[in-house]
Amino acid sequence: MTNRSKHRVRDARSRRQGAMAAGGLAMAFAWGAASADEGPVALRSFIDMQVGGIETLMVPADDSELPQPRRADGSPDPFFETTEAKRYLGKQLFHDPVRTARVREEFGGIREIAQTASCGSCHQGESASKSGTLFNFAVGGEGRHYTDRNGNFVPRRRARTDVLPPLRATPLFAGDALVDELPTLTDIYEFAVGSPARGRKLPDPGRLLATGRLDALDSVARNAPGVIGAAFNNRLLMGGFAGEPDSSPGGLNPFGHPAQENVALLLLDAHRMLEDQSAELQKIPAFIKLFQEAFPQEAAAAPGCSPSFPPAPGGCDALINDITAFRATATFLRTSVTRDTGWDRFLDGDNDALTPAQRRGARLFFTDARDGGAGCYSCHSGPMLNKQVDDPDVAGVGQFVEENFYNLGLADHPLQALNRAGRNDPDFRDDGRREVTGRDSDAFKFRVLTLRQLKDARFYFHNGLFTSVRDVVRYFNDGVPQDAVAAAAGTLSERFTHPRGSGSSPGLGLANAQVDDLTDFVENALYDPAFVRHDPASPTKMFQLSPIDVQYSIYRPDLAALGAIDGFPLSGRAEDNDDALSRRDMGLEFLDVTAQATITRLPDQARAAGGVAADVIRIRNAGTSIIDTHLLVIARDLPAGTKMINASGTTADGAPYLRVFLPDGQLAPGQSTDVRLQFGGSPRPMPAYRLTLLSGQGEP
Ligand code: HEC
Ligand code: HEC
Repeated sequence: MTNRSKHRVRDARSRRQGAMAAGGLAMAFAWGAASADEGPVALRSFIDMQVGGIETLMVPADDSELPQPRRADGSPDPFFETTEAKRYLGKQLFHDPVRTARVREEFGGIREIAQTASCGSCHQGESASKSGTLFNFAVGGEGRHYTDRNGNFVPRRRARTDVLPPLRATPLFAGDALVDELPTLTDIYEFAVGSPARGRKLPDPGRLLATGRLDALDSVARNAPGVIGAAFNNRLLMGGFAGEPDSSPGGLNPFGHPAQENVALLLLDAHRMLEDQSAELQKIPAFIKLFQEAFPQEAAAAPGCSPSFPPAPGGCDALINDITAFRATATFLRTSVTRDTGWDRFLDGDNDALTPAQRRGARLFFTDARDGGAGCYSCHSGPMLNKQVDDPDVAGVGQFVEENFYNLGLADHPLQALNRAGRNDPDFRDDGRREVTGRDSDAFKFRVLTLRQLKDARFYFHNGLFTSVRDVVRYFNDGVPQDAVAAAAGTLSERFTHPRGSGSSPGLGLANAQVDDLTDFVENALYDPAFVRHDPASPTKMFQLSPIDVQYSIYRPDLAALGAIDGFPLSGRAEDNDDALSRRDMGLEFLDVTAQATITRLPDQARAAGGVAADVIRIRNAGTSIIDTHLLVIARDLPAGTKMINASGTTADGAPYLRVFLPDGQLAPGQSTDVRLQFGGSPRPMPAYRLTLLSGQGEP
């Protein structure tokens, strides 16, 4: 244990004893009915008692103290060990589109979409490491986000229609014609390894393949969960597929690895990386260097593999392969945590870290439902709030497996409609854990998720049908299942329907103000801005590549010397998504849309007052494709002395431009938008000038 984390835990223990010694008054207060304005000290000692020691909720200060497989003597198992070199490599791999190279034409893939997406396409730092969208798209998708007038980040990624035309005239699915008959993650996997000898009822691979779309568009028919806290569960994926022993009917764990390594392997296959990524990575000298640093033993077995001269064919295979790639990825996943929320500071002894409302929310969260509280902590406990409160191994990787899965009566993710059509089985359902264990007693059970960072998530539960934390809290408060089939499966949790006991009325029945307090606690007390924006003073690392990660010229001159370009992942491709729309979303390039628009100067609206002349310009999308992101209206050929007063900036070649925030981030074909341009110092009537239009979010 590092000194820092030892200290934190010891401090917490002594505070706890202090609070107890302080005696009767504080405790009596804490045990009473949830009070209006409970002090932080009383709340802390109450929670301490509820969870069997407040230190079970604290995030270790050092990455090496986060759960990882250990040997009998307590030392890390070297094969899985969390090291900084593996973490940094794993983070680079996670965000680098160079790996999605396995797009096979015989499976409907189109060469153009290869290497345009990454793990980060569906796990975005600005969206709580979830996708931020109901549908998630990696290869075959385009776009990342736009920023609106108020500076809000709006995630958006859609299926590409330019290279992947819709399959049918009438879409089977009302959202996006392109996602027709898309197989789910599991189906792709079962097809890839499909062998009826495994004793499973397999989908008919011939039928799924007949769509010709298996490799065209990568999307998973569940809402992407956050990866925060992945170290703390011994099963991952929402049915617990990852970490399940190979001997289980639905287990696919050929190496018998822990959930983190197993999930990274399974996802290499699902997301078009397995087998083909290594050759791509071996071409990049800076990656060779990072693999050498992360895997010294494997590097020793590959003496011919060096970043300084092109390695002989196959010379790097012992070092750079699917196994080292998924091991580094697993380390990155284990270290994806937040440490600097108001909640963490509160646990650490800061009495001002939570607002009174958040403290009331915390009190409800950690009070048993049978005692009038909300009882959330019984399922959401441990440092990431994704474990059972009585997990016998709170500090380690967790012992409880079956107890971590619950049927909350939820409906399917909308994309499962395609699964029903693809299988020609109208009754097919995503039934969670049963798919993995084959047991009816597991039907419709899904794994408990982390509650950290959710304010940015936008879509909740495995079906993505809830769009705010408040809606989720209300769902628990009502205790009424949303789906009749899940409710009738015989596995519905009474802790959801009747948390106050079997004879009681359904749900928690909390007052609106209590729902508000709980929501405030989850949204704000558990939110860490440093996960989104690099903060050198914070113990939390940014999820996206941070300046420290990618300012190679300053922090990693050795990688810069090997060709790494500042601001980009090691391949030099755009971070996470390397399609043209995403590059415009990230400010890396622009599209000239002048020819696609008609520009009209509205006659009666031109006004002149004082020294200011204004023109109102109507810009209409006369083309057949959407004009996206920000629209930059550039005024060219202005006479000397004339200035655009409301300009947002000046282009690199000296012309003023106005940045227009399009409603919903787009101007659809046929739509128009009016723009007011103000000029100063011009003679009247207004001189002629020329407008050009660019789409893109950067500085032109
Ligand atoms: C196409 C979108 C997409 C891509 C690309 C993607 N994921 Fe995911 N991820 C998901 C979805 C959806 C789930 C939930 C799947 C399930 O439960 O079966 C998920 C689940 C996970 C989980 C489990 C989290 C939990 O709490 O159980 C981890 C870890 C993860 N992904 C990591 C990765 C890594 C590493 C990569 C790259 C190799 C990756 N993801 C690529 C969409 C994606
Ligand atoms: C009986 C166990 C249980 C209890 C009690 C419980 N939860 Fe959960 N919670 C879960 C499970 C399981 C999921 C994931 C379900 C799914 O997606 O299918 C979940 C998911 C969530 C999510 C969505 C996370 C995401 O990323 O989509 C939120 C928010 C949440 N719970 C908050 C709460 C709050 C607040 C309470 C107390 C009112 C609570 N939970 C009580 C089991 C529980």
